[in-house]
Amino acid sequence: MTAITRDDLAARDAADPLAAFRERFALPDGVIYLDGNSLGALPKAVKDRIAKAVAEEWGHDLIRSWNLHDWFSLPSRAGDKIARLIGAQAGEVVVADSTSVNLFKLLAAALKLRPGRTAIVSEPGNFPTDLYVAQGLGELVGGIEVRLAEPEGLADAISDDVAAVMLTHVNYKTGRVHDMKAVTAMAHDAGALMLWDLAHSAGALPVDLNGADADLAVGCGYKYLNGGPGAPAFLYVAHRLQDDIRPPLSGWMGHAAPFEFDIDYRPAEGIARNLCGTPAILSMVGLDTALDLMLEADMSEIRAKSIALCDTFAALVAQECAGHGFELASPPAPERGSQVSFRHEDGYAIMQALIARGVIGDFRAPDLMRFGFTPLYIRHVDVFDAVAILKEIMESGTWNAAEFHARAAVT
Ligand SMILES: Cc1ncc(COP(=O)(O)O)c(C=O)c1O
Repeated sequence: MTAITRDDLAARDAADPLAAFRERFALPDGVIYLDGNSLGALPKAVKDRIAKAVAEEWGHDLIRSWNLHDWFSLPSRAGDKIARLIGAQAGEVVVADSTSVNLFKLLAAALKLRPGRTAIVSEPGNFPTDLYVAQGLGELVGGIEVRLAEPEGLADAISDDVAAVMLTHVNYKTGRVHDMKAVTAMAHDAGALMLWDLAHSAGALPVDLNGADADLAVGCGYKYLNGGPGAPAFLYVAHRLQDDIRPPLSGWMGHAAPFEFDIDYRPAEGIARNLCGTPAILSMVGLDTALDLMLEADMSEIRAKSIALCDTFAALVAQECAGHGFELASPPAPERGSQVSFRHEDGYAIMQALIARGVIGDFRAPDLMRFGFTPLYIRHVDVFDAVAILKEIMESGTWNAAEFHARAAVT
């Protein structure tokens, strides 16, 4: 195999149809940001939009902004934008709460839709919040088993006592992608509902919820959608199920007529019944603006560049850092999302040393180094430069300094 050079990669950047998007982000100098799978970078337009919402809408127009600036419909307007990124129709997605809370809401709704069924199936490698929410809900309802199976064992685990199968489409550690259509069909064959967590999918790769006949889904606003720290999450309910859903968090924002202040709960029509309380408007305007930017890009170009960036990174680590103990933990495309992970027994310290040199990825215990590639603002040469820095750190042994071994509360 011929060696990859920086010039090769600069040529790819020159021909990159997404190159102009980088300018639209406020990236700090001297940083190669490979953690957009955890917290997306700041779009410049979001900074301006939030400033305007603070100064003009909140500061000047005050409570009138609910109507003047249409704050009230923001959850569904932003939801309709997300729908276009995940293969859903307008009216099937709403922005609300956090991913964890939305998981609770939809999982609880799924149990009600499948009375008499007593199991929720997931996998041990799912993100912990998904598993914790299922466990908590199971305890609350009583008599619910949270059954965990490795991907290869899902077919056996999904039997006719299962109410819902809940999986994260792109694994948060390895980036491994489930076959959404095949797994959804497996759930349906057993009479179960399928709930997808799209935290590492939305905005990162093409998703076709309708094409897969998915029932329910949730996802994050602050990762590849670049909505900002703690940005609200979203939830999806297929049109065909919406009228049957009885929301477990039956708050006033999901009421059919919130401003009638009726003492009895009546669910709103459609997806809006899945709202609960007053939305976090400042965060939501940020996410809404970030979505406009995302929707300007072509998802097939995003995916093609993401695959190229990830392939190049994996190949360069093999080329430049052979013998330093890195073990590739991600599958090749197309079974990989927009991240590449390596196992290394000293992964924590090496990641800290990389961050000190401006290459920001993250670490997941016990030994996983994660590198996320966001095609809208990462260049091919960034991949080359990041691996060059990794090589220097490994060859010089600077990663082994005591300061890089001290664990921070958030890694
Ligand atoms: C798959 C998955 N689900 C959910 C979450 C987080 O949920 P929340 O935003 O409620 O903290 C994450 C966070 O990284 C995640 O990776």
